Amino acid sequence: MTPVIAKTREELAAVRSGVRGTVALVPTMGALHEGHRSLIRKARGLADVVAVSIFVNPLQFGPGEDLDRYPRTFADDVEACAAEGVDIVFAPTAEVMYPATPQVTIEPGEMGRVVEGRTRPGHFAGMLTVVMKLLQLVRPDVAVFGEKDAQQLAMIRRMVADLDVPVRIVGGPTVRELGGLALSSRNRYLSEAERETALSLSQALQAGADAVQGGPAAVTGAARAVLDKAARAEPPLELDYLVLVDASTFTEVPAGYSGEAVLAVAGRVGTTHLIDNVPLSLAPVAPPHDPRAPGTPKES
Ligand code: PAF
Repeated sequence: MTPVIAKTREELAAVRSGVRGTVALVPTMGALHEGHRSLIRKARGLADVVAVSIFVNPLQFGPGEDLDRYPRTFADDVEACAAEGVDIVFAPTAEVMYPATPQVTIEPGEMGRVVEGRTRPGHFAGMLTVVMKLLQLVRPDVAVFGEKDAQQLAMIRRMVADLDVPVRIVGGPTVRELGGLALSSRNRYLSEAERETALSLSQALQAGADAVQGGPAAVTGAARAVLDKAARAEPPLELDYLVLVDASTFTEVPAGYSGEAVLAVAGRVGTTHLIDNVPLSLAPVAPPHDPRAPGTPKES
C-alpha cells in the first residue's frame, strides 16, 4: 500500500481531517533504516493509523554540523514506509515548516545543557521546537521515538509533561548491527576502518553493563578502558563524553548511587558524530566486610 504523501500544511490538514480512529506518529529525519522500521512496526500496534514525518530539521543542527550532507533518500524512504504499511507520510520543506524564522521556541531547561546538549549547544531547543510543531500539525494520540537518542526521548517526555501536550510518548529499543553498532542514518558516512573503531562505543557500553554489580565507578571504569584503547586505534575515536546519568534528569549519578541510570557515550570517528547508550539498573553495593565489626564471630 502506498502511503498518502502530504508536503504542505493544507495537504496534511486535508488527510488528517479524513482520519477515523487513533493516530500514531513516528517523527524522523528520513534515511530510514531498520531502527526506524522497528518504530513504525511498534506504532502500528498502538493506533489505527500510522503517520511518519520526514524532515531534516535545520533548527537542530549547529554551525559546522552535517546539515548539508545529511543523507536525503526520499524515494527509498517512501518505499520503506509502503512496505511497513504506513498510512501517511508528512514530508514538508524547510519553507513549509518555518515560513518565518521562529521567534518563539522551546527552551529545554537544564537537561538541554548537559551531556549531548553541552557538546551540541542549541541542538535540543531546535529538536524540541520541531517535535512540538509536528505534534501540533499531525495531532497524534501517540508518538514513538527511538531509545538510541535517550536524552532526546527523556526531554520530549519532559516537554509533554511540563506543557500538558495531549499525546502519549512511547520509546522503541535500539536496533544494532551484528557487531553491536547501533543503527543510525549517519553510519553510512563510515569507511570500513572507521566502522571498526565505531564498534568501540557499543563494546564500551557492554563492558560497563557487565560491571554493573560493582557500582558507578566500576561501570564507568570498565567502559573507559575500552574507549581509551579506541582513542589509540587508527582511525582513532575522539571521545566527546562517557557519562553515567540519572535516567530521567541526565545529571551524573554520585558515587554509591543505586537506581535507574543510563550509561551514555558519544564521540567522533573521522567526521562522523556517533552516540549510543545502555539503560542500567544499579543495585546498592554491599559495604566491604569488616572483620572487627561488632557481632563478627571471633576467629579461634
Ligand atoms: O531523532 C530524530 O530523527 C530527530 O531528532 C527528530 C525527533 C525527528 C526531530 O527532528
